Parts: sequence; C-alpha cells; structure tokens
Amino acid sequence: MATIRTETQGRVAIIRLDRPQALNALNRAVAEEIAEAAEGFDRDPDIGCIVVTGSDKAFAAGADIKEMQPAEFRDMIRENWFATWDRFTAIRIPTIAAVNGYALGGGCELAMMCDIILAGDKARFGQPEIRLGVMPGMGGTQRLTRLVGRSKAMELCLTGRMMDAAEAERSGLVARVFPAADLEAEAIAMAAEIAERSRLVTMMLKETVHRADEVSLSEGMRFERRLFHAMFALEDQKEGMAAYIEKREPRFRRD
Ligand code: HXC
Repeated sequence: MATIRTETQGRVAIIRLDRPQALNALNRAVAEEIAEAAEGFDRDPDIGCIVVTGSDKAFAAGADIKEMQPAEFRDMIRENWFATWDRFTAIRIPTIAAVNGYALGGGCELAMMCDIILAGDKARFGQPEIRLGVMPGMGGTQRLTRLVGRSKAMELCLTGRMMDAAEAERSGLVARVFPAADLEAEAIAMAAEIAERSRLVTMMLKETVHRADEVSLSEGMRFERRLFHAMFALEDQKEGMAAYIEKREPRFRRD
C-alpha cells in the first residue's frame, strides 16, 4: 500500500496513515486503501478491533486540497467523491482513532467515522473547510453535530477554529486524552481488551449503538431489546455468565 501501513499485534490491527509530506492529507488513494484494509480485517476472525492512527504531527490535515482544487462539479458527482468512506463506516468490528497532532477537515471526519476517539494531549481538532470556500463533506456537519451538539458544531464549522484535546474531551468528541507519547500504546491496549470479547456480540453492540443515530428512542430500544434476546442463542452468553458464576475468565468464540 502506498499511502498507509498496516500491522497486527495479536488480535489488534493497526492502520497507520503514511503521507508525511502532506501531513497525511486524505486523497482518493488513501480512502481506497483504508477501505480495502479495513474490509480485509473485518473479514478476518483473528482480528477483533482496528486502531487508525497517523504521526506525532498529524492524524490527517484534511482531504487533499491539491488533489481537490481543480475538480469540477461534474467530476465530483460522476465519481461520487468521498463515497468510498462509506465502505469504512460499514465495517462491523470496532474502530478506534488514536489522534496525535492535527485532525482537521476530513481528518477530523475520519476520526469521527471511528467508534471511539482517543487523543494525545497535543491533538488539535477542527473543520476549517469554510476558510477554503467549502463546507465539510465527509460527515462533519452531521457527526460533529451529534457528538458535540448544534451550537458548538456550528461555531466550529462556521469559524474554522481549532480546538485542543482538553476541549474536545470536554465537549464529547473525544473519549479519553493521554500524554502524546503514551497514546498509541493506550489505544492498542484498549483495542486488545475489546478484541478479547465475543466477536459477534461486539459487532451487534456496535450496530446497536450506531442505531441510536438513525431512529427514534422507542425504535432504538426495540432494536436493542430484540438483539439482546437474540444473544441468548449464542454460546457466548452461556459461557460469559457461567464464567462469572464459577469465578473464572470466560472463553469467548472469535469466529
Ligand atoms: C494537501 C496539505 C494539506 C491538505 C497540509 N498539506 N495539509 N496538502 N491537503 N489538507 C501540505 C502542505 O501543503 C505542505 O506541503 C505540507 O503538507 C506541510 O504543511 P505545512 O502547512 O507546511 O505545515 P504547518 O505550517 O505545520 O501547518 C500545518 C497545518 C496546515 C496548520 C495543518 O498545513 C494547514 O492549515 N493545512 C490545511 C488544513 C485544512 O484546511 N484542512 C481541510 C482540508 S478540506 P508543501 O508541499 O507546501 O510543503 C477538507 C474537506 C473534507 O478536509 C471534506 C470534503 C469536502
């Protein structure tokens, strides 16, 4: 792969953006390679969680402005720019964004496509597209609004201001902040813990939480209850509860 590097550590897969000359700007090759890598890990029963990360300086400084600048409306609509990212959000195992440095524009949007955002204490988040004469186009207006609320999302998108890690955590964008040097190890440790659990239950849990963004409370509750009932058809429910009662570690299925 030309724009990313991938590795695995036990049941954790790591996707590392690798375009240092452009602060990991997200061109179409990056989108294609991330989608392909993530789909491969999603199909692999030996992988239970994916960490997406960048460099110390930049998670990703946005969509690639140099690639985008000459594009015409006809190109955008014919090639359906940015739709490739739907393949990444469709994967079923959990994803963690480990953000050091800049997560701007499409970079912030890629982080928000992940299920959990962890940040290093020097991370900076923002949607600066307004300064380029456009607006967010990879989910920023939608996901940021759901995560931090309308007023703060409006303020960030309309001004293009960057926020630091502490503010991002306070406002609900980021789950936890770690010292920058510890971030990657912390993210991998969290991913490893997630990957130890039942792979099927984890997938159903992810699907159910995301359902909350799509449907009313009563429909979401119904969906949750039905999937909860369905879990009693899995060995993992019997094993998990038996292990608790017998005071031992559970042995979940990973396939
Ligand atoms: C293409 C980029 C880039 C980007 C940085 N670079 N961001 N190239 N697309 N988004 C390139 C720079 O041109 C430069 O290349 C090299 O990376 C290093 O960047 P510098 O600016 O020299 O670094 P620094 O001075 O440290 O400033 C860092 C920065 C700044 C504050 C992050 O690079 C910046 O403002 N970048 C743009 C951020 C942005 O507007 N993102 C939103 C993009 S639009 P050269 O060759 O000059 O050395 C977007 C839309 C998404 O994401 C939704 C779809 C519409």
